[in-house]
Amino acid sequence: MSRICSFSDNANRKLTRMKNKRRVLVTGGCGFIGANFVRLLHSRYSDWRVVNLDKLTYAGNLKNLEGISEGSEYRFVRGDICDKNLISRLFAEECFDTVVHFAAESHVDRSITGPGTFVRTNIEGTFTLLEAARKSGFAGNAEEGAPPCFLHVSTDEVYGSLGQTGYFTENTAYDPRSPYSASKASSDHLARAYFHTYGLPVRITNCSNNYGPFQFPEKLIPLVFNNALNNKALPVYGDGKNVRDWLYVLDHCEAIVEVLEKGQDGQCYNIGGNNEKQNIEVVTLICDLLDKKLGLAESGQPRRSLIDFVPDRLGHDRRYAIDATKIREQLGWEPRVNFAEGMERTVEWYLANQPWVIDIVNGSYQKYYAEMYRL
Ligand code: NAD
Ligand code: TYD
Repeated sequence: MSRICSFSDNANRKLTRMKNKRRVLVTGGCGFIGANFVRLLHSRYSDWRVVNLDKLTYAGNLKNLEGISEGSEYRFVRGDICDKNLISRLFAEECFDTVVHFAAESHVDRSITGPGTFVRTNIEGTFTLLEAARKSGFAGNAEEGAPPCFLHVSTDEVYGSLGQTGYFTENTAYDPRSPYSASKASSDHLARAYFHTYGLPVRITNCSNNYGPFQFPEKLIPLVFNNALNNKALPVYGDGKNVRDWLYVLDHCEAIVEVLEKGQDGQCYNIGGNNEKQNIEVVTLICDLLDKKLGLAESGQPRRSLIDFVPDRLGHDRRYAIDATKIREQLGWEPRVNFAEGMERTVEWYLANQPWVIDIVNGSYQKYYAEMYRL
């Protein structure tokens, strides 16, 4: 296939393009899942070029990618996915054949108190990327054996809330109920429309709740871990019986690679851990793991005594559960890390990386990149 991107004058860049098998734009690569994904690509595919575009909002942290240096395999660009000029320039400069789009506002509680940024980033930002991909003719940039792909990373929350039984399949009707899930659902619809209308090689993944290294400590698992470690109350919303289907983050990243390598354009793939847990079960497990590793809390009580049932989240979805038959049967993907092992690894990671957590809690991680970028 011929490449129709506009080459810059820079001969070195041109050479770089020639030798990299895939030229991948990752958006949101400084966030939780994006950073795990960039690390996975970096360790496994030395012939891919990864350009990480991230605005470095409160959720983006350059320290998540410490140890990965800039060169022909990696470039970091600080920027906003809503910035049309920047995105068009990047597509022209880098001659991408692959986009893996993680960048989003991702926290449901923040979407309840401030939905505006969710609409802007998740809907307008996705639209800006889709438009740039379409106008750059990026699908024509791919080499033989590495088909072009715009992979839009989404969530199971677009399907709404389940009762006690049943699972989300790829055919479940969308029924988002929070500003976060509504904005993600809108972006999924746009992505699908660009496949049907313009033939853009879009694939969509809808994944369940992730946990693991580098998760920002506002989400349930790292928040409870951090509070339990510091003898603070552990806020459990409502009766604690809401159910989430937890998946270790590296299993999610592996699934995305499978969809890139073996998936089909225009298809959606549900990704889940087949691992439903009530929130209260997750919270007590973290307490027990910490008691076992570190001894009882300062009070001499088991850490479970720190659990505090607080008023419920507005519109709190009761249960999510993924039927991942399609990706298992069609692409051969299955989670490799079971919950007990994943939680053990996660707790070990947070214990070994306390400075990372402390920098976030006291805000100094932002000073680190503010200095780098002279903000
Ligand atoms: P995160 O909040 O940890 O990271 C988001 C990243 O996007 C940050 O680095 C942030 O700086 C960047 N970003 C935000 N707005 C931006 C903008 N306007 N321009 C450029 N960069 C911007 O999120 P996450 O948990 O890693 O989730 C990544 C993706 O996966 C999201 O699309 C989310 O909807 C989806 N997802 C998350 C989960 C989960 O459990 N965390 C589950 C399923 C799907
Ligand atoms: P969260 O990690 O915010 O993910 P999501 O809302 O995308 O599922 O929350 C996971 C579950 O934990 C959800 O049911 C809300 C609940 N929760 C609490 O009970 N207490 C908390 O402090 C947080 C942040 C979440």
